[in-house]
Amino acid sequence: MDGPREDLAQRGCEERRHPIFARFFDRLSRCSEREVGVYRDRLLEGLYGRVLEVGAGNGVNFGRYPPTVEEVVALEPEPFMRKKAQCAATTAPVAVRVVDGVASRLPFESSSFDAAVASLVLCSVPDLDAALMELRRVLADGGELRFLEHVRADSPVKARLQRLLDRTGIWPLLGGGCHCSRSTIGAVAAAGFRVHECESLAFGPSWWITNPHMRGAALAPGEALANSSCV
Ligand SMILES: C[S@@+](CC[C@H](N)C(=O)[O-])C[C@H]1O[C@@H](n2cnc3c(N)ncnc32)[C@H](O)[C@@H]1O
Repeated sequence: MDGPREDLAQRGCEERRHPIFARFFDRLSRCSEREVGVYRDRLLEGLYGRVLEVGAGNGVNFGRYPPTVEEVVALEPEPFMRKKAQCAATTAPVAVRVVDGVASRLPFESSSFDAAVASLVLCSVPDLDAALMELRRVLADGGELRFLEHVRADSPVKARLQRLLDRTGIWPLLGGGCHCSRSTIGAVAAAGFRVHECESLAFGPSWWITNPHMRGAALAPGEALANSSCV
């Protein structure tokens, strides 16, 4: 990051309003429920206790949390999305509290969550490393980060195209700040999490620019894991 954007992020005022993208994504997430819902279920299965969901969008995940979850705190900076999330919270099967804020400056005490959920959001945070550091900070030792994210392609040609779309600003402009060329799982590991589960998925046609997606889980330091199946 550089220039005025960096100043904004440092003051915790990252760009929040993406009114056109927010409306588009709200519809898209409803239309893709049948295809993506099964992975959203898997993303959340087995969670318990106090859970933080960053970039909760319209609250599409809320109805899928298992009853073992005591409370979901859902962070959402975009005003249109946040309103939708507040609405979804009223019919959720578990207690959900929707909060304004950004991932790089989490308004929560350290070690205050049993788990954190990032679903299709780490591509959009302006400073990925800062967001991951914050997630580590608020997770209790051994707490789990569950992720469902699209990542940089393995194919060099596609990865080059993804980088080009990001660097020219075309993809972030179209996608409400999204970046399609991030090596997100590598960044999760570099932030000190132990990635112990991940599966590669494709939503829609496999050639589409935001495929592949990765769904998985990583543990915050404090819990030793004998083997890591990914990264
Ligand atoms: C593609 S949507 C995904 C929404 C939802 N998590 C889902 O699975 O459908 C990305 C969301 O991340 C939010 N977001 C963008 N930048 C963020 C940031 N810095 N901190 C937290 N959330 C952010 C956006 O407002 C948007 O709601």
